[in-house]
Amino acid sequence: MSSTVFLLLMASPLVHSGVLLTYPQARFPPLDYLPDDLTMPPCGVPKPTKPFYTTFHIVDSYNISWIAPGATNSTYRIRLVDSDGLTVEQLPGIISEDETTQMIKLRSPCEQCMLLIEQVAQNGKVFRSCADVNVVRATVRDDEQCSQRGSLMNSTCQCESGFTGNQCQYFAQCETNEDCLNGGICVDQPDALIKKRCFCSYGFFGQRCDQKFNSQNDHCFAYDEPVAADLPLYGMFNPRCFQRHDLSANDRIYSRKVDNEVEVILDFDTENWLSLGWRPTELSTSCRLFPILEDTRGRISEMDQVARREFVAKPVMPKNNGFTELGLKSSLHPMDCVDVIMASVRNGRLFISDFYSRDRSTPLEDYWYDGEMSLSAAYGVQQDGRSIVMFRRELREFEPTDHPLGPNEILIVWSKGDTQMGNSFQGTNRGVEKLRLAETVNVTFEQPPPPSTNELAFGVKNVVHDRLEPMAVTTTREPSETTRHPMHIPTPPPPPSTSTPESTSTESENSAPATSVFLLMLLTFIVFF
Ligand SMILES: *[C@@H]1O[C@H](CO)[C@@H](O)[C@H](O)[C@H]1NC(C)=O
Ligand SMILES: *[C@@H]1O[C@H](CO)[C@@H](O)[C@H](O)[C@H]1NC(C)=O
Ligand SMILES: *[C@@H]1O[C@H](CO)[C@@H](O)[C@H](O)[C@H]1NC(C)=O
Ligand SMILES: *[C@@H]1O[C@H](CO)[C@@H](O)[C@H](O)[C@H]1NC(C)=O
Repeated sequence: MSSTVFLLLMASPLVHSGVLLTYPQARFPPLDYLPDDLTMPPCGVPKPTKPFYTTFHIVDSYNISWIAPGATNSTYRIRLVDSDGLTVEQLPGIISEDETTQMIKLRSPCEQCMLLIEQVAQNGKVFRSCADVNVVRATVRDDEQCSQRGSLMNSTCQCESGFTGNQCQYFAQCETNEDCLNGGICVDQPDALIKKRCFCSYGFFGQRCDQKFNSQNDHCFAYDEPVAADLPLYGMFNPRCFQRHDLSANDRIYSRKVDNEVEVILDFDTENWLSLGWRPTELSTSCRLFPILEDTRGRISEMDQVARREFVAKPVMPKNNGFTELGLKSSLHPMDCVDVIMASVRNGRLFISDFYSRDRSTPLEDYWYDGEMSLSAAYGVQQDGRSIVMFRRELREFEPTDHPLGPNEILIVWSKGDTQMGNSFQGTNRGVEKLRLAETVNVTFEQPPPPSTNELAFGVKNVVHDRLEPMAVTTTREPSETTRHPMHIPTPPPPPSTSTPESTSTESENSAPATSVFLLMLLTFIVFF
């Protein structure tokens, strides 16, 4: 339950701000919470050893764009800054609060420079985002018009898989429904960093809806069909098999440990986005040193094409962490260093993925940090205005972007209600708790349950059958162990292979997450300051 400390944090005024350039492409890692008092100038993110440069031509006009999660009444300043941090050109200040695009014309040639956008929030705080740019005199060549991520045909860019936009300037997970397997649909996310994503049919998950959980029917969860006659809650699960944790009057979590895995069901009163973040209750503030931006992980091919692919597949980390001393010493915020699940159900289809947040930034999917999506199952339905989303994962952590779900009590942050990616949370749609999620719940059934039937259509509410009343329900508390994640400083991952640039193929994305790194998630989570 919430301690006083958490209540105090929750009572902090909600001023949610942050900005992230989407065109030109923001410097890696694309964090959108880089306040100028906690991170180092000019960008908050140091220059990568192999930056991704967007080319601008002087005289031509460009519509630059950004996302500003939850910002209201902010103003913006845009500058062209050279590699020494000196301002080369100050562009006219802006802007109306809802504007996230601006036509600009640059007049000064500037190689290996930065386009810097600064957001002045309503409370005076300044946030920023940088993109590495070359401003040159040359006229546009055809092969440059599609951001080197597509080819020009009939004056129209045909983008490679993973990119979209009239100049292929944006990230996308899919282009049409055909890119989403097993009945999934491709959904626009205009206010997010990734402009299109797959939402998957019941039981499927993964970037292309290509993953599915293989299970035996245990009469506790509807693994095989959206509505199982023998499952009392939503036709989806039997609550007696789970431990229930109430988060608010209308929002709750169910959880249970099954062998080495934990099943978590979010049962939230919302038809919009929902999310759950967690970390060990005790964690050193040094967790924010991950990702290790001092690790250059060298060995990048000199070929431009390869370099570009390397960027897409394995971004090269910059040389320091970008934090000021104050930033590093400040105490952990509930949103710092959290493993995060974010999900949304739409038209009976689910989007869910595994994210990590270093700070109050919008969480980024794990593969941005060389991690992998570590879910082994995911299911989602909507009924009566509620979203019910189950995910299953191994108990232990796998990599620096993961935290274990137990066996100890963990700190969780939850939120719900975001209508679209890029909006902020309001009011009481969020919270911080300490919970024990990984507990074995032993259920024995009085009589052999009947075979589940397939007669009920999806959408039938609260199918209740009495035959499966459990005889006994007991809860086992796992023995306490010392936290296995005290420092959270990972060993550097192996350097990327230089000899085999990954093709941007559409097949088997799940087996090689590095090939599908074009995805960045941009759903606003919760930010308290
Ligand atoms: C920029 O956007 C405006 C408004 O959508 C549009 O009229 C204009 O043609 C665009 N300019 C360029 C250079 O893309
Ligand atoms: C934005 O500013 C306007 C005018 O000053 C004010 O009426 C409005 O309440 C502000 N919006 C927010 C969300 O603070
Ligand atoms: C290009 O446009 C012309 C005229 O609209 C059309 O006939 C042709 O098929 C197009 N070519 C391609 C490759 O789309
Ligand atoms: C519950 O089941 C687990 C695993 O089978 C077992 O170790 C534990 O003793 C059981 N707990 C109770 C209270 O029966």
